Amino acid sequence: MTISFEVIHKDIMGRCGRLKVGERTVRTPALLPVINPHLQIITPREMQDMGVEAVITNAYIFNMSRTYRDAALRDGLHSVLDFDGVIMTDSGSFQLSVYGDVEISNLETLAFQKAIGSDIIVPLDIPTPPGADRSTAEEDLAVTMERIREACMKFRDSSPAAPVQGGIFPDLREAAAREVRETGAVFCPIGAVVPLMESYRYRELVQVVLAAKKGLSPASCVHLFGAGHPSMFALAVAMGCDLFDSAAYALYAKEGRYLTPHGSLKIDELAELPCACGICRTHTAEEIRKSEERERLLALHNLQVTLAEIARIRQAVQDGTLWELVDERCRSHPRLLDGYRELLRHTPMLESSDRVSKRRFFYRGAETCSRTEVLRYHQMITRIGVGRRVLITFDQRVAEGFDTILYFKPPFGPYPPGLGETFPIGQSEVPEWDEEMVRSGCAGIRRLMEENPGSGFVIWCGERWGGLVTRELPSAEVWCEPV
Ligand code: GUN
Ligand code: ZN
Repeated sequence: MTISFEVIHKDIMGRCGRLKVGERTVRTPALLPVINPHLQIITPREMQDMGVEAVITNAYIFNMSRTYRDAALRDGLHSVLDFDGVIMTDSGSFQLSVYGDVEISNLETLAFQKAIGSDIIVPLDIPTPPGADRSTAEEDLAVTMERIREACMKFRDSSPAAPVQGGIFPDLREAAAREVRETGAVFCPIGAVVPLMESYRYRELVQVVLAAKKGLSPASCVHLFGAGHPSMFALAVAMGCDLFDSAAYALYAKEGRYLTPHGSLKIDELAELPCACGICRTHTAEEIRKSEERERLLALHNLQVTLAEIARIRQAVQDGTLWELVDERCRSHPRLLDGYRELLRHTPMLESSDRVSKRRFFYRGAETCSRTEVLRYHQMITRIGVGRRVLITFDQRVAEGFDTILYFKPPFGPYPPGLGETFPIGQSEVPEWDEEMVRSGCAGIRRLMEENPGSGFVIWCGERWGGLVTRELPSAEVWCEPV
């Protein structure tokens, strides 16, 4: 199947795009629900009616199944699953790595996936567990790369997926991604991240995903293998992940867990159902608990919540408000906050992909000062032309005797009055100023001063900020009192 990917909107490193697989199209970011043919609590047909454009199933399960193997070979996956959208098959490497011996070769699984009519086929990569040492990760990676190259050579017409492995070592991930890029693969999953997510190691997740993204082509479609909890989708999209596959909707349902975009709750402990989906609006928590269909009702709710979060993310990317959604979601769990803070340590990388203008910029606390828009503004500040005597005024009062008068808006810094209506100055909403944001604004002033060593700068900041500004900008003349 020929696979192509087109990016339509961008925000941070996130994208809204179109993945074309043969005649079929998937709007991204997208969630591919995991289908286990033996346990279809929601059928693929029902999913299609809920707006699902792609699903993923496991070639290994089909190959081992007396019921499904022959039917799939004879009639094809689309007919067996009764689904018209894109069907991706996983090779089952992940199951094999968890449950033991490999009983099938790379070329055998690829040929089988092709024979059952899969739209996206995956070679037998080796997911290196996070506990593995460097030499194990290197050896696994060498085998994975060999299998990817074999897949690309023998199955070129099928555009096989090329998974990025490399364990928890960012340099191996980046090198793996560069090798994947050289194969020309368009569809590039990032593998072996499930154990990181299961143990809430979001900081390391961010490190390995960004390392992989560094090596991959920006034009490739990136699938985050096994990411299923909606609370982390916004973070993953901000890093440039386009696809998720999830069994979480079903696994959580089986355990009586009710997904929300902030985390999961136990249905046994719920008195209310805080969700707008059809199931929650036509049942009480008590009714779901006692229903014979409890698992299915929960799975339906879980899937709808997950799909709604994907829709919310797609809208945020189009509006340029993804940072605010990431900020909101990552405050649902302290370990997600760790992941968010790690992301903010990579702002220079994020900034180079971020869009120029956005609908708005909301200040949401200290983390906001590290956002791409602030970094970009500070880089842009050096291009503001100033005369010999420069006044930067915090409350827009002006004085005589200056060649240049600039206003001040934290967390950005100084701006010419003429830029007051343009992004980000004009579209930014900040609460009552706090020290973090004023310090960030002073960093902007510092950039301007460094760029113009021949000019004298007066900062008219008033009493409230005099101490902080003097500490931040010792070489400036600081006016604290009204003059
Ligand atoms: N499912 C979850 N993680 C992985 C992975 O690393 N490789 C493959 N093929 N499937 C997965
Ligand atoms: Zn619901």
